[in-house]
Parts: sequence; structure tokens; C-alpha cells
Amino acid sequence: STLRVNTSGGRKIPETLFGIFFEEINHAGAGGLWAELVSNRGFEAGSIEPWAVIGDSSSVAISTDDTSCFERNKIALKVDVLCDGCPGGVGVYNPGFWGMNIEQGNKYKLIFYVRSSSPANVTASLTDASGRTTLATVTILSGAANWTRQEIWLQAGGTSDSARLQLTANTKATLWFDQVSLMPQHTFKGHGFRNDLAEMLVALKPAFLRFPGGCYVEGGVLKNAFMWKNTVGPSEERPGHFGDVWNYWTDDGFGYLEFLQLAEDLGAAPIWVFNSGVSLNESVDPEHIQPYVQDALDGLEFANGPASSKWGSLRAKMGHPAPFDIRCVAIGNEDCTLPHYQENYPTFYNAIKKAYPAVKVISNCDGSASPLPHPADFYDYHTYAPAADFFKHAHLFDQAPRLGPKAFVSEYAVTGSDANNGSLLAALGEAAFLIGIENNSDLVELASYAPLFTNVNDRRWNPDAIPFNSSHSYGTPSYYMQQFFIQSNGATLLNSTLETTAPNLIASAITWNDSKSEFLRVKVVNFDNNAVNLTIVLEGTNSSVQWQVTAKTEMTSANVMDENSLDNPSMIVPVKNVIQKPPGQDDLQIIISPHSITSSDF
Ligand code: AHR
Repeated sequence: STLRVNTSGGRKIPETLFGIFFEEINHAGAGGLWAELVSNRGFEAGSIEPWAVIGDSSSVAISTDDTSCFERNKIALKVDVLCDGCPGGVGVYNPGFWGMNIEQGNKYKLIFYVRSSSPANVTASLTDASGRTTLATVTILSGAANWTRQEIWLQAGGTSDSARLQLTANTKATLWFDQVSLMPQHTFKGHGFRNDLAEMLVALKPAFLRFPGGCYVEGGVLKNAFMWKNTVGPSEERPGHFGDVWNYWTDDGFGYLEFLQLAEDLGAAPIWVFNSGVSLNESVDPEHIQPYVQDALDGLEFANGPASSKWGSLRAKMGHPAPFDIRCVAIGNEDCTLPHYQENYPTFYNAIKKAYPAVKVISNCDGSASPLPHPADFYDYHTYAPAADFFKHAHLFDQAPRLGPKAFVSEYAVTGSDANNGSLLAALGEAAFLIGIENNSDLVELASYAPLFTNVNDRRWNPDAIPFNSSHSYGTPSYYMQQFFIQSNGATLLNSTLETTAPNLIASAITWNDSKSEFLRVKVVNFDNNAVNLTIVLEGTNSSVQWQVTAKTEMTSANVMDENSLDNPSMIVPVKNVIQKPPGQDDLQIIISPHSITSSDF
């Protein structure tokens, strides 16, 4: 087989083409990227779970009441200590999200609110999962009948990735606790994101961050939708909410500002998906849509408005006086055919364009086959399918209309038995699709894999790019597949021709510059189980990319259904080899392994 690459000419790929989509699904944020270690910090989740009692019914009684000092989350925990000198103390513990990761020598900031019927010593400890080994401990005197805020640094003297936080007392008294938070000292850029998981995102060099969902934005019913105003301000004052689509409570420490901050910290353009007055089972009619429109406008003012504006001033008060720069918003998620969406859409669209003419608007309706029923800058396209379909998807947008809105493939993934928890086969299908996206990037300007994260203890959706537990994480082949495309944003797509009889081979070529040099990358996906001898011929007039040496990077595995795992995180990863040009050989001759994705950098 021969790939002929014309090194001159070509077409510029949009700067924004490949980014990421973060959804609060699978405990991706709460118990994941958001580094808060306490689950159900305000006891608002409908029960006190996962908090549990230390002591028995003769020594302690646990209940909740609505005496909190926080107006929007009134529930507090009441602990009646029934014994004096209770051995080891009685009270409650929180195991976090399937265990807290506590590391020896590291510091953790504990904040909680407490009041008591009479002066009592309260001991806060970090222990192993059994509670028997103490990793850190401190005792404070709660002397006041009024709520007081306690802020304490705990330094770990030991390590456990299944640790818990205990709050105990040992003298007869009634104590109330609320808004208990434990944060590691070191988080990504000091902004509360779990370091190892954030670094996985950095390694994808995402051009944009779409957030916060997905169906998470919609909710099963509207009261469970993500409404940004409930997620801003001091975290202890946020009410939290039950995400009824993915079926878990979030304290909303990872709120609207934190999403914007994450985008800024990753150098990614924020793309905000807001609720369009539509949930999966309930929709707002045009007569009552105005508050939702106002919420969207206020959300834009919070992000983009000056610190002197009403909502911009709240952003400034939260520590970010400079405006963020939202340039693109989506009116809802997958709502096109749900009741009232199309009726309400123009109201949102017109209000946004009037107040923020430069902000681009994404419609949930599909414009790939026929014109949209309303104006939009982008249409949102989601595709989940078997691997062979994805290989063919390389041509999905070849015939799509070029006049009208651009396409945003905001969710794509191979799913089902071809993918399991994240197979090589899935990654190959997706890689072929992304080569097609590069080819169609005159139309498709944005694309992101979905979902991004899963806590392995709560896999609501399979597969996901980055599975993790409390202390470790790994990339699936679909995660590493995306790394083959990180140089594509803003690069030049070269004209190339593949001459082959191999049945399932697809290739593309790009060039890009840094301040010193010009680089050329050829990518080849072999979806077949036979190896291919490939000759890469660089043609055209651009002599700066003629080859002397090439870095060949390949991702493959013995079995196409192989997966990475926490125990074997690097079974399928890109492997790099340097190839020197053999004397007298003009063109690069390489063997493309069966079931592989390969790049060659010149
Ligand atoms: O990515 C998982 C889900 O798939 C998203 O929440 C939704 O938009 C889609 O149906």
C-alpha cells in the first residue's frame, strides 16, 4: 500500500476541533475530579449516608434536624452523647466516596460547623477503613451554644486509600455538626481539582471544555436539573441536588464557577450547556419560559460580565474578578424532540444574541441531513454505535450540507459489546471516525469523546475515557487514541491519497509549526487483522518536511478486545520508536500492525 502526501497546500483545521466533554456522571466530579473527600457534607442527601455511627445505642443517638445556620440547606446532624468517658469516643464517621485517599506527610484542610449543649471536646481523626489505625487526629473544645466554624489542618502520619474521617466526643452532651469538608492541601493549580485526574486532562491538550452535561443538565424532572445559581457562592451555602438521571447526590462543590475555572486552568474554551426548560420527563411551556431565559442571561453575565455587574460581582466575590470568556453556549442537551424545545428555542436564541451578539449558540436539533428549523451557529450531534459503524462513520459528514450552521460532535464513542469497559477495538473505530472528522473539519469545528470519567465504584455508563478509584486512574485505549490527534487543532490538513487493496485502512496527514520548526504527522488506522506494508511518499514542494528521521508511535495489542485496568493500566498505550532514514531509500516503508493506530512524525 502507498500513502502519497502532498506536503504543499492543504486546508487549515479549526483551532478548536478536539476538546473534552465533562459530565457529572459516574461520580466523575463528586468523588472524582473534585477533590472534596467528604460525601454528603451537609447531611442534605435525604439520609445521612454514607455517614455512619461510631458507638452503640447505649452510648450515642444520631438524628438530623433543621437547625443549621445555612438558609438554603437547613439540615444539621444531631449527636447525643449518652456516656461520660466513653472509651475511644462516640460519634460519626464519613468514608468519603468509597474510601478517602490519605497520604503520609500530606496535609488536609478540615472545615466544619459545630455547636453543643454544653462544653465538649470534639476529636477529628483520619483513620484507616476499620477505624483502628489513626493517621491524624486533633481535639478542639466546642464551648458554644451558637454555631462556630472550625478550620483545622490535619497532617497524615500514615497512608490509606480507604481512609475515613471521624468526629467523636466522649462526654455527655448534645452536639450538632454541619457542612463538614476535608480537602487535600495540594490540588491542581490550587483550585480544588484532584491532581492526577486533572493531569490526565492536561495530556489531552483540550481546546474546549463542554460542561456540565449531558442529561445531568436536564434532570429526569426539572427540580433535579443542574441550575447554576444553586451552585455558586460559598460552598457551605449551596443546597446541593440529587442528580436523578445518574442517580446520586452532589453537594455542588463543583459548581458553575469551578467549571469555568477548570476550563481556564486547562487553557480550554468553556462551552456551557444550560437547561432549556426541558428535562427528560417535564418541559416548560412558552408562557412560563422567561425565568429560564433570564437564568441563561444571568449565567452569561456571571461568566463574562464586568466585576461591577450584578452577577459579575458575585464571580469577583468568589475570587475571580476578571471575566471568563464564554464564546459558545448550548441551549439544552438532546432536547430537540422533547416538548416545547423548538417553540422556546427562538426566545433563548434571540435574547442571547441581543445581549451577547458574539456568543455562538448551539442547537440540539440535527442539521446534518436537513436544514435546522431555527437559526444557530452550531448543531449538536451525538453518536454511540458499534466499532464497525464507527469505522464507516469516517464518511458520516462527507455529504452533510455545507451551507448553514457548523457541526459540534459533542458526544461520540463506540459502546456495547465492542467496547466493554474500553477496548482497543473501540479506540480503532473512533480513531477512524476522527480521521473523517479532520477531513470534514470545514463543517465539523468541535468534537469530544463521552463520557470522560468514571469512578470504578459507580460505573453508570460504559465505557469512559478515564476510570479511577480513590487513588489511581488509567486511560482506556479511547483516551490514548485522542492523544494521536492533539496536534491537529489549528494544523494544516494535507491532501493525501491512499492506494491500497487493504480492506480497512484509513489515513490522514497534517503539518504544524512551533516557533522553530515545521512538523508533519501521518496517522494510519488499520481496522483489519492483517498487517499492511505501507510506503509513505512525501510529494510536493515543501522541502522543510522531507524526512531524515521519523518518530513512529503505535498503539496495538495482541487481542483487539484487550483493555487497560487499574491493575494493568499500561497494557495498551502508544509506544514510540525512532526510525532513521536508510541510505538510498527515498520513501518511508513501515509495517502497519493488525488492529493498530500509528502516527509517524517527520
Ligand atoms: O454521555 C452519556 C449520556 O449520553 C449523556 O448524558 C447524554 O447527553 C447522552 O445520551
